[in-house]
Amino acid sequence: MCGIVGYIGKKEKKSILLDGLKELEYRGYDSAGIAIIEKDGLKHFKAVGKLKNLRDKTKNYSSSGFGVAIGHTRWATHGKPTELNAHPHLGEYSFVVHNGIIENYQEIKDELEKMGVTFLSQTDTETIVHLFEKNNSDFKNPFNSFKQTVSKLNGAYAILLITEAEPESIFFAKSGSPLLIGFNEEDEIYFASSDTPIIGKATEVYYLEDGEYGYAKKGEVKLFDSSGIEKKILKKPLPTDKKMAQKDGFRFFMEKEIYEQSQVMNDCMIGRVLDDRVEFEELDKSLFENINSIKICACGTSYHSALTGAYLFERLAKIPTQVEIASEFRYKEPLLQRDTLFITISQSGETADTLEALKMANRAGLKTLTICNVDNSSIVRESGSAILTRAGIEKGVASTKAFATQTMVLWLLSLYIAELKGNISKDRLNRELNAVRKVPKVLIVTDRLHDKIHRLSKRYLHGHGFFFIGRDIFFPLALEGALKLKEISYLHAEGYPAGEMKHGPIALADSELFTIALMPKSLHYDKIKSNVEELSARDATILAISPEEFELADDFIRTKYSSHAMLEFFEMMVITQLLALEVSIRLGNDVDMPRNLAKSVTVE
Ligand code: M6R
Repeated sequence: MCGIVGYIGKKEKKSILLDGLKELEYRGYDSAGIAIIEKDGLKHFKAVGKLKNLRDKTKNYSSSGFGVAIGHTRWATHGKPTELNAHPHLGEYSFVVHNGIIENYQEIKDELEKMGVTFLSQTDTETIVHLFEKNNSDFKNPFNSFKQTVSKLNGAYAILLITEAEPESIFFAKSGSPLLIGFNEEDEIYFASSDTPIIGKATEVYYLEDGEYGYAKKGEVKLFDSSGIEKKILKKPLPTDKKMAQKDGFRFFMEKEIYEQSQVMNDCMIGRVLDDRVEFEELDKSLFENINSIKICACGTSYHSALTGAYLFERLAKIPTQVEIASEFRYKEPLLQRDTLFITISQSGETADTLEALKMANRAGLKTLTICNVDNSSIVRESGSAILTRAGIEKGVASTKAFATQTMVLWLLSLYIAELKGNISKDRLNRELNAVRKVPKVLIVTDRLHDKIHRLSKRYLHGHGFFFIGRDIFFPLALEGALKLKEISYLHAEGYPAGEMKHGPIALADSELFTIALMPKSLHYDKIKSNVEELSARDATILAISPEEFELADDFIRTKYSSHAMLEFFEMMVITQLLALEVSIRLGNDVDMPRNLAKSVTVE
């Protein structure tokens, strides 16, 4: 949640900050702000809403000469999306930007208010800058004051602070929220909450660990660990390719990402799908020794891929598998056993609930594995082992290609474990691998299909709700189809196991209830057909997605006959994604940045 950038150097700082924030805008777009200290003193600007508003507001300003600068794009947690609540937050002579949540802010705020400090915003962040200035009035040493301030904070944070008391420095600290420092040969220093804003600007990067803090000034960065010991900064080279982050002529990133799925699936499979087996070079086979069950923890779309994975693990690898929503898992006092492999799934690798679930599993001594799209993310770093999904940067808030590649990795992993444990015949493994190889082709979006969904979408812009229904692996796909639609259309949508409708939800059926029926031919076709007939008998409007003509359907999207359920799964996945996209576009919504959401949920 939220995005942070910082810069120290001679270049024009406003554009560096705004360009950097543009790369992070998908993380939150309730408001944005920048603060700069240069030779003429301290300047700041804030604007509510998308970054464009801040760009307009600052169009007549440009910085000059050496200086320090920080910026922020916000996804509101404490206080409404107003200008006063926008970062950077100001004290008397300092500014702070923060990503995360300060859990004990009220306590600190109460104390400061008793001392006469006036707060302007409703945010937790503002306490940081006032506490810093209070400490500095006692210590008369900005860095020691910052250190003291950080030591008083509980919760999750990535913080950048600038102050006229030391106008050439940026103070920084990280705990639980991502933060990195970028370096280049021109002695410039960059900060950001992920690497995209600094690609092309910095050549090397350091990803801060939890508990680290320090200061940066021209050509110098000092880093300390949580016990105050100075640390050597081990820089890594920064990737230079930003091509994947452009829209390439598509109307929205989400649309581009749906079309990219075929290609990224190839990338995901390279070196993993061999002639007669699956290989994961990144895994040590000992990871699966003495493992008798699997638990998968994730949120949102990643949770849906986890549910799909559980069917595959049990069916193919014959290993008992449970799936849990990370935010529930954290507080249920779970019983964790050492013979369970704990898997987390996350596109961003920064989801706070998933990260905390993983830490719990690590503390309990379980072997941990993550399936993630972002290398060097917090979850990858925290996990014992990691498989990268190789989906490339996903910018649309509604996840598409990340889900597709997560599901593929889970399918491959189930085959890998099945073979390792001797639970699959050669013949079955070959049949599975043959199907796996066909997936990239199934994911190609044809003009015919897209046009059909575009035309059909105009009939689905109203009504009192959508039910996506499916059975077996098509139940998680139904959940995912419904989540996609609700995220970007703001229409009410539910995913349901088709056989469960008669246990309650069927009471809602009438002509204004839209049922999107996932009716694969290769898996329980007759069962789902009966469930859809029950809905049709109650006058529900049915959009059937199936290779088999279904006479009771009001609308019909024909899919190919496939012998393997996973091929039908991926084909129907694309259809549900395109349907959500087209409905959202017709409703005039911002597909890539839907209201109230953010790409990376780094608060619990
Ligand atoms: O980055 P993660 O995969 O951990 O994110 C989990 C969810 O926040 C995410 O999948 C969310 O549900 C997406 N907006 C779905 O489109």
